[in-house]
Amino acid sequence: MSVTGTKETMLSPPNMKRGVRRLSSVIATLDDLSLGPSVVVPPQHMEQPSDAHETAAALEMAKRHISRISANEPISTPTTPPATSTTDAYAFAFDIDGVLIRGGEAIPEAIEAMKILNGQNQYGVKIPYIFVTNGGGKSEEERCLDLSRQLHMEVSPGQFICGHTPMREMAERYGTVLVVGGEGEKCRQVAEGYGFKDVCTPGDIIKDNVNTTPFRKLTKDEQEHSRKRNFGEVEIEAVFVFADSRDWAGDQQIILDLLMSKKGRLGTRSETFDEGPPIFFSHNDMVWATSHDHTRLGMGALRASLEAVFKAMTKKEMKSTAFGKPQVGTFQFATRLLQQWRKDVHGIDSPPQTVYFVGDTPESDIRGTNEFNESPLCENTWYSILVRTGVFREGTKPGFTPMATVDNVLEAVKHGIQREVAKAMKSQIIDGNGEGPGVILEEDQLQDATITDD
Ligand code: G3P
Ligand code: MG
Repeated sequence: MSVTGTKETMLSPPNMKRGVRRLSSVIATLDDLSLGPSVVVPPQHMEQPSDAHETAAALEMAKRHISRISANEPISTPTTPPATSTTDAYAFAFDIDGVLIRGGEAIPEAIEAMKILNGQNQYGVKIPYIFVTNGGGKSEEERCLDLSRQLHMEVSPGQFICGHTPMREMAERYGTVLVVGGEGEKCRQVAEGYGFKDVCTPGDIIKDNVNTTPFRKLTKDEQEHSRKRNFGEVEIEAVFVFADSRDWAGDQQIILDLLMSKKGRLGTRSETFDEGPPIFFSHNDMVWATSHDHTRLGMGALRASLEAVFKAMTKKEMKSTAFGKPQVGTFQFATRLLQQWRKDVHGIDSPPQTVYFVGDTPESDIRGTNEFNESPLCENTWYSILVRTGVFREGTKPGFTPMATVDNVLEAVKHGIQREVAKAMKSQIIDGNGEGPGVILEEDQLQDATITDD
């Protein structure tokens, strides 16, 4: 199977607009999705100046807490919660399916995990975070509204990347394109929102020639929304698989017709089978975690199937490009998004020392995080945490080894925080606390020094 990397230069974070409008997942309308600013955060975050001084104060508070543990002093739980501040030392990045969501529902521990990151911990410290999913099929704004409802908190497009987000960078490059996957007209709308000039769907092609797919007939709704045109006169310059296909047979037929065509003109056949348009997939996940007990086939499986059929028919290798995780370009994109998010929302203008990436799929989440961490393009530490709530199951050996494996996302968050507290303690041991040499802590005291999920 050929896996080609994305072009790093194509990837840049989406524009962050400074205006603020608070969206509620309950009352949002279609206008909310298509109009107005894309940043959805509580106003106080946007008006806030740098949190750096608060971060220093919070760190000091944590250090004092740790000093008390080391001196075996009783720790009293504060009666009033402290004012929140934000740490600039580290951040989290979350995969979604199999980590936070399964089958459209939140994984129960996810809601608690998010509360901790949002400052509901005994230090009142907020920890910045972003979401990096290979999923897609709807606009980033709509997906964030879904996520806001599922996780009981507000999620902004400014902290969100989905599989097809980087494809917006290719809108200028091609004229007429075929967009495949997703429900109804949604992916066409997403592509047009990205600036693609002329977007066709498989429905348009079937509407023009019903004999294209012998066993697929358009529904009344599809018939109504598909656009009639004469494809004998259209040159399709590229194929983009934005989201999982709802009709593998029909979509594969149409994609193969194009790949075997002369310059993307339907009805033609190349003799050399190397004149067709390029094809791009938003990711390459062979399987993914849904509400079924076992993993379900993903876009990578469609890609493998297309490659096999193309080879059987043409005796040639199908060339294609996949975006998403584990591509290093996606992690670079995530780095820039996180940087922008920390700056705009938390007032932090320096990169975190560590980013904890929490994922469930070794082949995309763990591989991508590890490879990015080891690449010269990575300027800090990306630390991979594998959870047991999704694709990976206990009793199997992950194809790519995570830096930590935990039961669920709540444990992942605790693990990251505990590691950071331990690091702060270690530096205190080295530096001392200003009143004498630093103290040596036992392993069980290190364990106690976690921020609890109160
Ligand atoms: O189709 C979505 C799936 O393949 C993976 O989504 O959130 O686990 O990256 P996610
Ligand atoms: Mg996943």
